[in-house]
Amino acid sequence: MKVAIIGATGTAGRAIAATAQRAGHEVRGLSRSTGVDLHTGAGLGEAVRGADTVIDASNAFPADPGADLVATFADSTRRLAEACEETDVQRLVHLSICNIEQPVFDGFDYYVAKRAQEEVLQSTPLPYTIIRSAQWMEFALNPSAVTMTETEVRVEDWLIQPIAVTEVAEVLVRAVTTDPRDRQVAGPVTIRLPELTRELLAATGDPRRVVTVDASMTALSQGVLLAPSGAELLGPTPEEWVRGHSN
Ligand SMILES: NC(=O)c1ccc[n+]([C@@H]2O[C@H](COP(=O)([O-])OP(=O)(O)OC[C@H]3O[C@@H](n4cnc5c(N)ncnc54)[C@H](OP(=O)(O)O)[C@@H]3O)[C@@H](O)[C@H]2O)c1
Repeated sequence: MKVAIIGATGTAGRAIAATAQRAGHEVRGLSRSTGVDLHTGAGLGEAVRGADTVIDASNAFPADPGADLVATFADSTRRLAEACEETDVQRLVHLSICNIEQPVFDGFDYYVAKRAQEEVLQSTPLPYTIIRSAQWMEFALNPSAVTMTETEVRVEDWLIQPIAVTEVAEVLVRAVTTDPRDRQVAGPVTIRLPELTRELLAATGDPRRVVTVDASMTALSQGVLLAPSGAELLGPTPEEWVRGHSN
């Protein structure tokens, strides 16, 4: 199959491209670095033309931090869905996040923006698949919860159920051919984010001290992000994943 991946240079996009290639698909990697811009639509139609499936693993933040994030994300998804419809793409596979519908996130712009992307897809005639993932293992160093200095790493006390991004990539690529259901995926065990960061730093020989700080929202430390009911739990465990990243 011909598979176009938008956001192909990102953390998820790179894993998806590698998985799709291994699965024998003809892969087209797209992002602004290949002249495709979800904010303006530049290059989009030509880039997806001829693809059987498009996988959207983008994270198209507005260049202006003061811009409306929700509208920017929704408009990006709308532009992509319209480009797919106009060029007879058969399916759009979209990467989203578990638990974004929880009321506690009503004032959290990023999750509201991810909800808005799903709503755009639900109103389009284009066949689509939404894969919602829990936080990835790579979240151990994610700047939205982790702040680094030369001597220490401050990590918010989130309780998460992380999944390896390579597992998420397998699920997205499977949706191209065999399993177009919407799905939710998470890792097999829960862990507090500072512990995951501490284990990763130790495995990679980073001597910095990990300091646990309060989560920006209490719910994050109480488990609002754990695997929702019905989610599929896919390995490896954090321990196995960290071992695979040791120096
Ligand atoms: N981090 C997690 O734990 C997690 C969990 C579940 C779901 N997700 C979701 O996974 C998705 C991917 O996240 P990620 O961390 O892999 O993203 P990332 O590493 O920040 O990569 C973002 C990708 O989007 C492209 N991009 C950004 N702006 C664009 C634009 N205007 N037009 C076209 N392409 C653009 C980037 O390439 P260029 O800069 O070259 O354009 C890059 O390829 C996000 O939607 C996120 O919500 C993340």
